[in-house]
Amino acid sequence: MFNGPTVTTDPRPNVVAISPLQLDADLIGTAAQALRDGLLVAFPTETVYGLGCNALDETAIAKVFAAKGRPSSDPLIVHVDGLPMVESVIEGPLPPAAKALADAFWPGPLTMILPRGQAVPLAVTSGLESVAVRCPSHPVAAALIHEAGIPITAPSANRFNHISPTSAQHVIADLGHVCDIIIDSGRTDHGLESTVVTLDGADVTVLRHGAITVEQLAGVEGIRIADDGTSVDSPASPGHEKRHYSPSTPTVAVRGNSIDFASTSGLELGAATSVIYAGYSDREPELPSTWRFEPLGSLAEIEAVGHDLYFELRRIDVLTAAAIVVELTGAPGLGRAIDDRLTRAAGSTIASTSAELAKAITEATAAHD
Ligand code: TXA
Ligand code: MG
Repeated sequence: MFNGPTVTTDPRPNVVAISPLQLDADLIGTAAQALRDGLLVAFPTETVYGLGCNALDETAIAKVFAAKGRPSSDPLIVHVDGLPMVESVIEGPLPPAAKALADAFWPGPLTMILPRGQAVPLAVTSGLESVAVRCPSHPVAAALIHEAGIPITAPSANRFNHISPTSAQHVIADLGHVCDIIIDSGRTDHGLESTVVTLDGADVTVLRHGAITVEQLAGVEGIRIADDGTSVDSPASPGHEKRHYSPSTPTVAVRGNSIDFASTSGLELGAATSVIYAGYSDREPELPSTWRFEPLGSLAEIEAVGHDLYFELRRIDVLTAAAIVVELTGAPGLGRAIDDRLTRAAGSTIASTSAELAKAITEATAAHD
């Protein structure tokens, strides 16, 4: 008799399909019970897939860090199903500016850094007295947390520093062997992680660009953008490393369409053979003959670029190439989150001239050997 997903030592991952359009209460119930039992359940959110566990269970939390190979200094986000559960994980009531942001964007892809409630183990926050909280809007995530009745920590369900997963297949490829259950609900909506902000009274600082743009945040009454995360001195979340979201193939970034390949002597880039140039279909450059163009989408449809970014990076990463060059969008709005991810995919090296690009490719491929 089939009793729903069971946890076994079978090396094949335990994948269950749940449609976001028609929630299967039995499967949600089984996955919720697994979370309450301290097991690891990968599930979809509207941004990327998360590797979920009971946020209040230190043993389960340790398993999440180990599964990802994530350093314990990189704190996790606590996912909740609504404001009452928020109050169970923070110290005191929700501050007015946080309430204004919650009213505007929750449920949805905004993460707020708030004072840590006593119930949340320091293992979740990497010893910080603050806790990152987010209320996801994906129907499966929302139902799962609600049914579990406990806050759920969920980092992106990828190996540490690899490209975040936007489909269950990505999770299986990275963490299939360590998840007790993987819920497959198809591709995620946004394809980029939540925006992470911290608050000081009405002052908001962006720690990580994401699916909610700075422009959208700035439109909320009762808050002020104190730091939009674009200056070199802007603080970043701990663990938001210079190299992150990275393909396995050596990757370098170029500032939006800044290199005129047509007038570059082949000498500078001559050593850089079999390079994939990941750019935009509306401004495809004329590339050296041994290079290949792969589109990340059209800049006229920036949301589609964000939605497909990790999907395309994973696709391009398995093509045969000595290096990948990713082109930054230079666009505002979602372009900032896309450029942040592309920059980190390239280990934060950005080339602006063909000489810099040739050097960056040489260094990246040498570092990889
Ligand atoms: O969209 C998302 O946020 C996805 C889905 C699964 O919800 N989750 C996600 O989690 O991206 P993760 O662990 O990959 O990224 C969490 C980010 C990290 O940059 C971490 O440093 C930051 O949130 N963070 C967590 N707690 C923090 C804290 N107390 N202070 C500052 N940053 C914090
Ligand atoms: Mg991540």
